[in-house]
Amino acid sequence: MLAFENILQRIESEISQLQFTNPPKSLYEPIEYILSLGGKRIRPALTLMACNIYNNSIENAIKPALGLEVFHNFTLLHDDLMDEADKRRNKPTVHKVWNANTAILSGDAMLIAAYQLIGSTEHGHLKQVLDLFTQTAAEICGGQQFDMEFESRMDVSEEEYIEMIRLKTAVLLACSLKTGALLGGASQEDAGNLYAFGINIGLAFQLQDDLLDVYGDTATFGKNIGGDILCNKKTFLLINALRLANKEQAEALRSWMDKKEFDPAQKIQAFTSIYNELQLKQLTENKIQAYYDASVENLKALQVAPEKLTILKEVCDHLMHRQS
Ligand code: IPE
Ligand code: IPE
Ligand code: MG
Ligand code: MG
Ligand code: MG
Repeated sequence: MLAFENILQRIESEISQLQFTNPPKSLYEPIEYILSLGGKRIRPALTLMACNIYNNSIENAIKPALGLEVFHNFTLLHDDLMDEADKRRNKPTVHKVWNANTAILSGDAMLIAAYQLIGSTEHGHLKQVLDLFTQTAAEICGGQQFDMEFESRMDVSEEEYIEMIRLKTAVLLACSLKTGALLGGASQEDAGNLYAFGINIGLAFQLQDDLLDVYGDTATFGKNIGGDILCNKKTFLLINALRLANKEQAEALRSWMDKKEFDPAQKIQAFTSIYNELQLKQLTENKIQAYYDASVENLKALQVAPEKLTILKEVCDHLMHRQS
């Protein structure tokens, strides 16, 4: 089996060979920019690791894996515009370096490029892989819309939040795993269990992202801290803050959320103090652990020798405690 470092090296080398050099330059330069900034490359890595569980060769999974990473980066261009985020991977976001129209249209071009890559899947698996990807992409749009709508709602339940992050984040990790499994020759049952594993890992992954958005370090996280607080995102932390707050804390949260003009640093400070008082870091970490534990159960159902799963387990364990 391939070591994780080798899988990552292969992904980087393949990404650097992708050609986005057609005119107009202004359409393709932002694509080269975002793809060259790195990131964890976790989605294509999951595809290749899942494939490698069932097959020594990962060659037929390379193009679909790249397609999933290009698609992910497309979602980031639009997401940063929607979230008014200035920084990604420690660099200014595409709509900051260029403008909003560029983020929209270069993003669209990336979605098309993703379809081209995934569409080149070998014939025998093409229909299932493409159907899965198409369904996943539609679900992500739904998740992103819920995420935006929730900003102006005060009564979002934890259940609604979990469904929203399942759609905006978890399904793509699950799709990445299932795609790799299918291309490696896994049974439908194993592919389904890896999908379920991906959902649990994906939910934990987005919870960790919410946590890092408050408690992370900009230099390692690569995004501005407090972005979710500034736009009243109904994260796991805010939903639980609203649920657990005493009268005074609830009033403070509400009045900050109603303000149209404020000093960003002060709002972040005020929210973070309340999150600290309510020990929401611990609560979130417990929730992450619960999804991680559930994901371990999904792996137990797979019909493969346990040692085949070592790398995947290590990588996911690492993801739960990541700082970036
Ligand atoms: C960011 O994804 C968007 C979320 C789903 C939280 P990643 O955290 O995988 O971002 P990169 O690709 O490593 O930069
Ligand atoms: C990301 O959610 C979901 C998608 C990009 C589809 P976030 O908005 O939390 O991601 P970051 O924090 O900007 O990376
Ligand atoms: Mg965002
Ligand atoms: Mg977002
Ligand atoms: Mg986030």
